[in-house]
Amino acid sequence: MSVAKDFFIMLSQNRMLNGAAKRWGLKLGAQSVVAGTTIDEMVDSIRKLNANGISATIDNLGEFVFEKEEALQAKEQILAVVEAIHQHKLDAHISLKPTQLGLDVDVDFCRENLREIVAAAHEYGIFVNFDMEDYSHLQPSFDLLEELHGDYDNVGTVIQAYFFRAEEDIEKFKDYRLRIVKGAYKEPEHLAYQTKEAIDANYIKLIEYHLLNGPFTSIATHDHHVINHVKKFVSEHGIPNDKFEFQMLYGFRTDMQLELTKEGYNFCTYVPFGIDWYGYFMRRLAERPQNLNLIVKQTFNK
Ligand code: FDA
Repeated sequence: MSVAKDFFIMLSQNRMLNGAAKRWGLKLGAQSVVAGTTIDEMVDSIRKLNANGISATIDNLGEFVFEKEEALQAKEQILAVVEAIHQHKLDAHISLKPTQLGLDVDVDFCRENLREIVAAAHEYGIFVNFDMEDYSHLQPSFDLLEELHGDYDNVGTVIQAYFFRAEEDIEKFKDYRLRIVKGAYKEPEHLAYQTKEAIDANYIKLIEYHLLNGPFTSIATHDHHVINHVKKFVSEHGIPNDKFEFQMLYGFRTDMQLELTKEGYNFCTYVPFGIDWYGYFMRRLAERPQNLNLIVKQTFNK
């Protein structure tokens, strides 16, 4: 793990800065990768994506929630997003983080919040994805997901390829719609692969497994090597385009997002919005310190 990566992960976890940034508005170049702070701004961004044949998964940004009041606010905001998707007929679904809805406050309370959102989305046929956070939240999030999946078919989650346990998890959740990623948090050596080579190899293995065994696979990466491998694999195995999609984050490799759509692949952009942008933004810098270019460009192109 590089020094820059460690540094940005550390910044992403700084609660004081996370709190302060909510009052700053979008700063430090975050406006390139966060689709505004309000529902109206987010809706405008998604309309543009949809006009280009790209669907969206919407993340009402929020983390470090340790108070019931904050989790209830997040729930209301996400319910408003569900309503906005329906009202504006957006080609979009929901991504949420269990901690935002109170996982660190109380599991039963979190379950009820999640259930309310999943039920409301189910009414409109909207899919809800549970984003995956750090290891300490992994099993509790999977447990909640399994419980809700028993009652609703519109939920799925993320498998992080850096975890040694990911292979077992993907087998367990093979009947679910899954997003597969490399993994964005700093995890210890006894739990997770640490080198790019090992993570990439496991990533490919998991993608291939779910493409062959699962109902639907979201391949979420900006890595063109992986994307090219997937294109070849689906063609060789006769996997139809309606069984998978590529996903990238809003503001990243936009040309490639459009190109893949033009090539006829399903494409879904992860669209974060809201005032709680700081932790998300710092994790993007941790993944790719070259993203600092974004900051520099934004600073000089005011
Ligand atoms: P990686 O960072 O490994 O880069 C590989 C290569 O791709 C680079 O060497 C470069 O050649 C090329 N490349 C990458 N980015 C580029 C850019 N911006 N411009 C040009 N070239 C570039 N994580 C998590 O833990 N939980 C989650 O729920 C999610 N959810 C999620 C959703 C979506 C839609 C995405 C895209 C990602 C996530 N992630 C995530 C984050 C994920 O785990 C991972 O940290 C990042 O996607 C970075 O890894 P990549 O696979 O994109 O490429």
